[in-house]
Amino acid sequence: MSVLTPKNLSFRLALALGGLCSLGSSLIWIINNPFNFTFSVSIFISTFILSYLFLLWGIKQYVDKQFKLIYKTIHSLKIGLKKDSQKVDIEEDIFVKIRKEVIEWDINNRAEIDRLQEQEKFRRDFIGNISHELKTPIFSIQGYILTLLEGGLEDERINRSFLQKAEKGINRMIEMVDDLDEISKLESNRIELKKQSFDIVKLAREVFESLEDKAKEKQINLKVLQEDKVINVNADPSKISQVLTNLTVNSINYGTVGGSTSIKFFDLHDNILIEIKDTGKGIAEEHLPRLFERFYRVDKGRSRADGGSGLGLAIVKHIIEAHQQTINVRSTEGKGSMFSFTLKKA
Ligand SMILES: Nc1ncnc2c1ncn2[C@@H]1O[C@H](COP(=O)(O)OP(=O)(O)OP(=O)(O)O)[C@@H](O)[C@H]1O
Ligand SMILES: [Mg+2]
Repeated sequence: MSVLTPKNLSFRLALALGGLCSLGSSLIWIINNPFNFTFSVSIFISTFILSYLFLLWGIKQYVDKQFKLIYKTIHSLKIGLKKDSQKVDIEEDIFVKIRKEVIEWDINNRAEIDRLQEQEKFRRDFIGNISHELKTPIFSIQGYILTLLEGGLEDERINRSFLQKAEKGINRMIEMVDDLDEISKLESNRIELKKQSFDIVKLAREVFESLEDKAKEKQINLKVLQEDKVINVNADPSKISQVLTNLTVNSINYGTVGGSTSIKFFDLHDNILIEIKDTGKGIAEEHLPRLFERFYRVDKGRSRADGGSGLGLAIVKHIIEAHQQTINVRSTEGKGSMFSFTLKKA
């Protein structure tokens, strides 16, 4: 099937018009005169040429106008199409071209809509998660305060401990708001890393020392391997301290009594690989892909009692990625987990 170009269409119509005109005029002619071949041919040729030129011009004008209208509509929706494709080429099948461009535009649009819907869902989930997470401490604080107001304040046995519990709930909320603030800053790149050269082994020792008491409560042994080495990295020490703290706290919270957490360093060409390994409860394979998502928890019921809201690892990942480095996890349920990330050598 031949393509429908303006040229092609004009040619066919002009051919038909030329034929009709020469036939008509020949019929009129032969009523009074004998048939004249030259007359018929010249009528055909002149009608053909004139109508061809006229039709070509007319069709081009018409298509041009319609074509521009389509582009204008598409452009007014602020979806960019190639500017040069607005010109009508008389040798080209414009309808196929329009179809192609509209399909292209439609595909782009769909991708954009999918992206926006994804973002919308993300935002809805995020708000839902925040309110859900805040409810727990708010309700417990409310409960303690109500009990105190309803007479508990005078009861020496509970007044102090209830106030302490309410304070714990408030601290929990402050922690969560701080975490959310940190995440939003990291996500919008509002955090400026203060990179400098420092000894990562020393920092790991300091973090472990600060968590010694917490680890003791669960009889978990914290151990920095290669502890006498000096390994300098180029990173933001306060942020990396937070990474080590979050990972170590997790290893204690989800660790087993009498277990251990160790930290190890490996020299990789330009980077240092840092591995934090525990002998805790481990994480089932199906949870690993979503582990670094904000608010994601493996055991939702249990973590809630521990006060975890699933933000720690999201922060860790953001910090490592802000350093243009990567973090990974390997874990076996019942045996333990190993989180490893890299940092640039100083
Ligand atoms: N070392 C680990 N061993 C076993 N499970 C872990 C370990 N680290 C993290 N998890 C699981 O991954 C989930 C997400 O961890 P994350 O640190 O992001 O949140 P959280 O500890 O629940 O709360 P938050 O750190 O915000 O107080 C945890 O709830 C826990 O189920
Ligand atoms: Mg945590």
